[in-house]
Amino acid sequence: MSPLSTLEGVAAPAGLPEGLIAGHLLREGLVPIATPLPPLLPAIVPAGPQHLAGMLELFNEIVASSTAVYADLPETLEQRATWLAQRQERGHPVLVAEALDGSVLGFASFGDFRGCFPGFRHTAEHSVHLRPAARGQGLGGRLVEALLREARAQGRHAMMASIDSGNAPSLRLHARLGFREVGRLPQVGAKFGQWLELVLMQKLLDERPTPES
Ligand SMILES: CC(C)(COP(=O)(O)OP(=O)(O)OC[C@H]1O[C@@H](n2cnc3c(N)ncnc32)[C@H](O)[C@@H]1OP(=O)(O)O)[C@@H](O)C(=O)NCCC(=O)NCCS
Repeated sequence: MSPLSTLEGVAAPAGLPEGLIAGHLLREGLVPIATPLPPLLPAIVPAGPQHLAGMLELFNEIVASSTAVYADLPETLEQRATWLAQRQERGHPVLVAEALDGSVLGFASFGDFRGCFPGFRHTAEHSVHLRPAARGQGLGGRLVEALLREARAQGRHAMMASIDSGNAPSLRLHARLGFREVGRLPQVGAKFGQWLELVLMQKLLDERPTPES
């Protein structure tokens, strides 16, 4: 059974805190017996070692099948574990959308934008990836919105997304979340025997007039 199959056909809840699912509410004793069960939503949780294999599997499916990631070779579990450890050491969030059975439906993370120079310290760059069966249900937006909240909490001023120009769902998702196109870089990428064009999208996260204010 697909981890999503229990979620099909349910409406989005109104006013539920991020990541709350029916089971949580029941355990907390918050649902009166006569009240219909609230819709089941995948929880959004910080990534842990238990998520590594799921993140690796869905990432490698995207590498093999699309130009969403400009990489040709699959990653190893060791590389994904090193990536997660480095993100955690640096305080960069890695969030997982978890199905009710604990499996990984998607993940999202941000790191420093052009981290080699300290003048970029107020800017982050994120990525978001979902399993094919989890797409088209608003989960990508929930993950990115959670990242934007964390970026603001960390005092970041700008969030960047680098998106292949052929990736219509990602371009639309980011436009809907308030990102605007700030650059288009023709033929900077190569995959599947063709040049790839990268679109840079940006969202400013606060209105500070100066960097240290
Ligand atoms: C990109 C991705 C994260 C989007 O997440 P999602 O939860 O599926 O996004 P949504 O369902 O909200 O769809 C986003 C928008 O794209 C639109 N869309 C979906 N498929 C589309 C298509 N083939 N062509 C045009 N628009 C499409 C949706 O209608 C929606 O637009 P709307 O907000 O105006 O209604 C997800 O599809 C994914 O993981 N893709 C593979 C990996 C990837 O591309 N990652 C991003 C790298 S930059």
